[in-house]
Amino acid sequence: MRIEWQIAPSDEWRAEAVIFFLFEKPHEYLPGLRQFLEGTGKWLAGSTALIDFRGKPSEVAVLYAPAGEKAVRRIILVGLGPAEHFEAERLKNASALALRKCRDLGIDRPGITISALKGFPAPAPVYSSAVEALLRDSLTGAMAGLYRFGEMKTKDADTGQEGPETILLLDDEAPGKVLLEAVDLAQSETAGIILARNLTISPANRATPLFIADTASEVAGRFGFKIEIIDLDLARSMGMGAFAAVAKGSTEPAFVIIMEHSPPGTLDDAPLVFIGKGITFDTGGISLKPRDKLEEMKQDMAGAASVLGLFEAIGRSRLSRRVAGILPCAENMPGGRAYKPGDVFRCYSGQTVEIISTDAEGRLVLCDALAYAAERFKPALMIDIATLTGASIMALGREVAAILGNREDLVNSVRQIGASVGERFWPLPLWNFYFDALKSDVADMKNVGDRGAGTIIAAMFLKQFVPDEIPWAHMDIAGTAWTDKDTGFSPKGPTGFGVRTMFEIARKWEKK
Ligand code: BES
Ligand code: MN
Ligand code: ZN
Repeated sequence: MRIEWQIAPSDEWRAEAVIFFLFEKPHEYLPGLRQFLEGTGKWLAGSTALIDFRGKPSEVAVLYAPAGEKAVRRIILVGLGPAEHFEAERLKNASALALRKCRDLGIDRPGITISALKGFPAPAPVYSSAVEALLRDSLTGAMAGLYRFGEMKTKDADTGQEGPETILLLDDEAPGKVLLEAVDLAQSETAGIILARNLTISPANRATPLFIADTASEVAGRFGFKIEIIDLDLARSMGMGAFAAVAKGSTEPAFVIIMEHSPPGTLDDAPLVFIGKGITFDTGGISLKPRDKLEEMKQDMAGAASVLGLFEAIGRSRLSRRVAGILPCAENMPGGRAYKPGDVFRCYSGQTVEIISTDAEGRLVLCDALAYAAERFKPALMIDIATLTGASIMALGREVAAILGNREDLVNSVRQIGASVGERFWPLPLWNFYFDALKSDVADMKNVGDRGAGTIIAAMFLKQFVPDEIPWAHMDIAGTAWTDKDTGFSPKGPTGFGVRTMFEIARKWEKK
């Protein structure tokens, strides 16, 4: 979508519709709306429609200017809920709903006034009320909220209803550097989110490991990233026994994809490394999953999709830091060549693992990627993201991802950075005694524990493959990668969760 500035005094703005945000009554109007009511929008002041608007979250109203009004012909009001509960997320959802309303009405060029983003309540610790932050949130929300995946429908009633082609930003003075950057960042991260969502929603007969590799090559080609694609034979000969164990049960070729963004002069810097679980379909393998809702296991590559989305955002925003991505991609299938409970494999790190459940496959593909990343890149920071455990849904539900790691300050800063962009993470502990559950009689460790703390045990397993000197965090997005209810920002389906937080981490660590 295009974003265009219209710099003019307010009575010369020309927009098919202008969007205003309102807190829940009795809170007074934000200054942008107040000014509008005193000036160009006099027709609106005191109107019953405006009085009736409560400002509840997800409340949307369209108010029409009297015939003959040239400047602004419609006002779209969107509710933000109570001012005292304001969070970045509210604005994202509200502007998503406003833009959907535009799509329904066939409005091509709606406007948002910069003044409508001023005067928000003072920043709580987790979000910024700076205009540039709110502009970025509202644009990302607007664009991501219009997301729809219609490619595979041949009788789609919605075709031809793509939504607005341009969002106008209305102001009476030219934007400074920070506002222009906010627009750029919104465009970059939205492209990343959409790429991640498209991959995640794609069925497993399309989004195969090969398809992910092709997509990664396309992204790399567009931005000049280095890319290496390691196939199963090579992975095995390199010593990635855990990855190979999972991959060998499927006839779909498996790949470990390695991408690297190293802008000029950064080749000797320790990179940030992001690792995404890319199980394109998780049947559970020989430890077969029950049939109920099994189709949902096409989303088991959401971690890999988010890392690719991150690279899309990094490429577009021309980040100046060295960043690498590793995507171990395979399908987890039962069959004559599949790995079995009781099997023992030697991992890339040299440690041996006894398989208890072939359904705990994510940690196996990740452990080789982590050990390889640590050895090859000596990362300044290593983050993995994975739909790893159903237990994380039990513990935290579907709106909060688990965050664990080997540094408390790192875990906390990921939590805070996430909150500032509307992605919720909550920490779980990772004390060493949890390893007791993984002790094996025949190998260095088992791949599952026996009871309880499933998310922690999975992270504990991963920790065995991360050298202590490397700061590492693990995001378990099993609950958040997909939503069964429309949140505004995210329609029903894949969310692209993690892209924004990882993008912010990469930006924040830019100077370090
Ligand atoms: N991909 C699943 C986890 C998952 C569950 C993701 C629900 C998204 C929604 C993972 O590979 C898995 O099967 N985990 C097992 C681990 C168990 C065998 C220790 C689980 O959570 O049951
Ligand atoms: Mn599984
Ligand atoms: Zn899985």
